[in-house]
Amino acid sequence: MTHGGNNVLIRGGRLFDPAAGIDGIGDVLVRDGVIAAIGGAVESRPGEVLDAAGLYVLPGLMDMHVHLREPGQEHKETITTGTRAAIAGGFTAVACEPNTVPPCDSPQRLAAVIAIAERTAAARVFPKCAITVGQKGRALTDFGALRAAGAVAASDDGLCVKGEEVMRRAVSSAREAGLPLTLHVDGPAMIERDIALAAEGGWAVHFSHVSLAEEAELIGEGRAKGLRVSGEVTPHHAALSADDAPGGDANFKMTPPLASARDVAALRRALVDGVLTVIASDHAPHSPSEKAVSYEDAPPGVIGLETALAVIWTHRVEAGDVSPDAVVRALTSGPAEVLGLPAPGLREGAPADIALFDPKGAWIVEPERFNSKARNCPFAGHRLQGKVIATLVGGRVVMREGGILGVGAA
Ligand code: DOR
Repeated sequence: MTHGGNNVLIRGGRLFDPAAGIDGIGDVLVRDGVIAAIGGAVESRPGEVLDAAGLYVLPGLMDMHVHLREPGQEHKETITTGTRAAIAGGFTAVACEPNTVPPCDSPQRLAAVIAIAERTAAARVFPKCAITVGQKGRALTDFGALRAAGAVAASDDGLCVKGEEVMRRAVSSAREAGLPLTLHVDGPAMIERDIALAAEGGWAVHFSHVSLAEEAELIGEGRAKGLRVSGEVTPHHAALSADDAPGGDANFKMTPPLASARDVAALRRALVDGVLTVIASDHAPHSPSEKAVSYEDAPPGVIGLETALAVIWTHRVEAGDVSPDAVVRALTSGPAEVLGLPAPGLREGAPADIALFDPKGAWIVEPERFNSKARNCPFAGHRLQGKVIATLVGGRVVMREGGILGVGAA
């Protein structure tokens, strides 16, 4: 990923960064990759001008749960295609899951992912490492060495750590290494166990793709007791219930599955109440041929980077039940806080990672036009309201009006 040195003036947009308390019309001047000035009518220098009238100017979005599939499954996605999908959706940073082939369970393997990302990614890539060697649920990986090598969290992804003693040791080792744990939930019982282990071990745990009312309730209870537990919801679980899925369509098959309308209502309340502080796509690309088999035989997972913000906007903000404030926090400062990363923000001196978003822009989802290699999207043909118009990473305009501008090796 390269950084641009050009000046860019973003003019007359609605500057919106809830974590920083910013909401007002103004300009942003980008110079040498950082936000040089922000506010009302900032001075301009020759360079690119983006007219942001009618648009939200947001901190670059962060998705803390994506599958980039490289190394090992490049027929599904690569770091290039996955991060091009990210910037198309306004995401300037992604944390990628370790369930690659082989799994990312050693500092060498992690370093290899970082090296590929440095050469080929269109957005910032923060790799997660596995919790257990080979994701087999037995021996722990070396959290200290993995954190030193750049891991932002440990996760066994789709496989949750079944053994209680292994999980107990994972919590204590993660605390020693200062490494966040992002756990794939497997129902309320497992969440209850892991909240208890986190309390016992004095460390934070984050639950990926929460889908059930009971799961959100347990996380809310834990937070109310002052425990360091957090949770994320995917746009598809927040927007769709099992009743919305045409039977037998593998593009609606994911783990965990779509739940009931009652669960969707509970997830919505959990976003409003600050129980779930993160929206993450769980972008899970599979090749069209892998999904073209029977529902039972198809691998679980749906893609989401290119639709995430618009799906949440259409189904939750336009529906009037979740505020833009909560949504933007959950896509910026929320995940940054869980991962202990600097929050993307509209601040002078901050890296110029920015997304321009048209809240009125309507579009029809056409997966064949996606930047992702995959097409397994449950929103194909849906009309969504809210469109990402431009994305800047490190001061460079890398996406404009749907076009990717020369980033990420082909
Ligand atoms: O649907 C899913 N797909 N859920 C997971 O937990 C894993 C993911 C994948 O890797 O495809």
